[in-house]
Amino acid sequence: MTVNLTHNNQDLAELEPIEKASQSELQQVQLDRLRWTVQHAYDNVAFYRQGFDNAGVSPNDITSLSDLAKLPFTTKQDLRDNYPFDMFAVPQDQIVRIHASSGTTGKPTVVGYTRNDIDAWSNVVARTIRAAGGRPGDMLHNSYGYGLFTGGLGAHYGAERLGCTVVPMSGGQTAKQVQLIQDFKPRIITVTPSYCLNLIDEFEKQGIDPKSTSLKIGIFGAEPWTNEMRLEIEERLGIDAVDIYGLSEVIGPGVAQECVETKDGPTIWEDMFYPEIIDPETHEVLPDGELGELVFTSLVKEAMPVIRYRTRDLTRLLPGTARPMRRMEKVTGRNDDMLILRGVNVFPSQIEEQILLIDGLSPHYQLELSRNGNMDALTVNCERSSTTNNDDRALQQTLKAKIKEMIGISTSVNIVATGEIPRSQGKAQRVVDRRS
Ligand code: DLL
Repeated sequence: MTVNLTHNNQDLAELEPIEKASQSELQQVQLDRLRWTVQHAYDNVAFYRQGFDNAGVSPNDITSLSDLAKLPFTTKQDLRDNYPFDMFAVPQDQIVRIHASSGTTGKPTVVGYTRNDIDAWSNVVARTIRAAGGRPGDMLHNSYGYGLFTGGLGAHYGAERLGCTVVPMSGGQTAKQVQLIQDFKPRIITVTPSYCLNLIDEFEKQGIDPKSTSLKIGIFGAEPWTNEMRLEIEERLGIDAVDIYGLSEVIGPGVAQECVETKDGPTIWEDMFYPEIIDPETHEVLPDGELGELVFTSLVKEAMPVIRYRTRDLTRLLPGTARPMRRMEKVTGRNDDMLILRGVNVFPSQIEEQILLIDGLSPHYQLELSRNGNMDALTVNCERSSTTNNDDRALQQTLKAKIKEMIGISTSVNIVATGEIPRSQGKAQRVVDRRS
């Protein structure tokens, strides 16, 4: 059997018609689906019925896309308050799958899917993998975790739908992952960027040049990662690295995907998930191009429609390029991840950017927050790269100075021995809070 490895003009012919639709066609689909969703949520979920009634809005008042702004927001706390199943809009015997996201404290957030939802999700993930450069017949090594997390099964069903051969590896067993990649020769890998670094190190440890593998495309997401990290991974693994975005509350992976031909931020599959950007403080809807919190309304979900779900992710909406649908800027931080140090707002990704710009530092890092009197203090722990001749003191001072210059904060920098920064098996824990 031969695998089609070429990207030619025929690819365009493979796009779904909606991926090529004009703005007015797309908006008509969005409005029809929005009206269905709002009515469905109102009729079947007490939380939405009460919320709309309190806001004095009836589903019939939604006659244009801008009317969406009349409806109240939904937050993660609302999902927790309705734990486990009160956000479901269909009886339990129509739910064919449950996923849940753990969160650091309290109850998990539970999401449910009907058979049609799984079908729609599979289709949109198939579209996602195709936008990343995947084709029917490709072998795909899936290192996203299987289980309650949506990453593993979400990517799996989409890859099968596209016609790929899926290796359902899940996270962990790093040496085994390397062996299977060597032996099976997949063209695509789906994995968190932080775990991919772990895999690259394992290849090197086994004396295998990571560039020599069969991998050509990496579909990376589930956590923030910078363009500097993209370059590092592309260079070391010899692949195209593209960004996949999603969250369980909205469906899972495949809400948006970066197209491999442009690599300029994920295209939002707007026919399925309607995006808005709001000011997180005033809740005002912001125009395209402005930075704020991303909010999604599902347009086709049956089991658990979400209306104006506040993601906490910070980004902006950008015009379409490879597709007419709008893009989002790469998410480099969440409201919840923001550190405030002496009045300066800092995201871990900004520190990642600086670390990766320094030759001699490895891309593994962890940030430690502590309290110094009544001031918060930040220590950046990172590793020297195994190939550098620079001494630790020089590396430490260079990073400290760069962070001060580029971000405007004073930090301590700790260069630790190779392997001392805990390695990620899935989503990396970038910040350790030792303040309490
Ligand atoms: O992480 C779904 C997913 C799986 C996406 C596999 C991509 C690949 P949750 O566990 O619910 O779902 O976490 C969702 O992760 O709100 C973002 O803060 C973050 N996140 C997801 N993708 C990206 C990305 C999955 N590409 C939360 N860039 C989201 C930055 C991301 N952050």
